[in-house]
Amino acid sequence: MNIEQKIIFSEQTLALVSKIVSHYPEGKQKSALLPVLHIAQAEFGGWLSVPVMDYVASILNILPIEVYEVATFYSMYNTKPVGNCVIEVCRTGPCWLCGAEEIIMHLENKLKIKAGETTSDGKFTIKLVECLADCGNAPVIQVGWDYHGNMTKEKIDELITDFDKNNKVSHKNPYEI
Ligand code: FES
Repeated sequence: MNIEQKIIFSEQTLALVSKIVSHYPEGKQKSALLPVLHIAQAEFGGWLSVPVMDYVASILNILPIEVYEVATFYSMYNTKPVGNCVIEVCRTGPCWLCGAEEIIMHLENKLKIKAGETTSDGKFTIKLVECLADCGNAPVIQVGWDYHGNMTKEKIDELITDFDKNNKVSHKNPYEI
């Protein structure tokens, strides 16, 4: 089956996208790009392939390059396949000083992968990101739309057990209606 044939939003999602686009003035539909990319990422397996980005460009009537440059700039978008649970670890100064390095090493040892990689069972991805704007609770990680502050190795273990046991998916559509 041609994978491109499957790249189409459901009717419900298209209605949601239209609603978001309607919040902006006529001709300024590009302003809806960030939320529409979040929706596309959630709907198409947690990452944005080139055909998915092209589809978003066609929906918003903008150039594909305008989508690529945004999708590759922000760390919240994945431009390669990821696991069900994406663990984003802040590595910026305050988190680093409060133990981010130790958290990263613990994750890598526990999941037996390096940062930037996905476990062979497709369950977990470790991603390193810059400041998550929650420096007061450093070290901080983000999983899906949830922040977890004051991280410790024990908290990491609990979180991984929880995701593993309940087979949770971290990349969910935040605009779901
Ligand atoms: Fe980690 Fe700001 S430095 S949240």
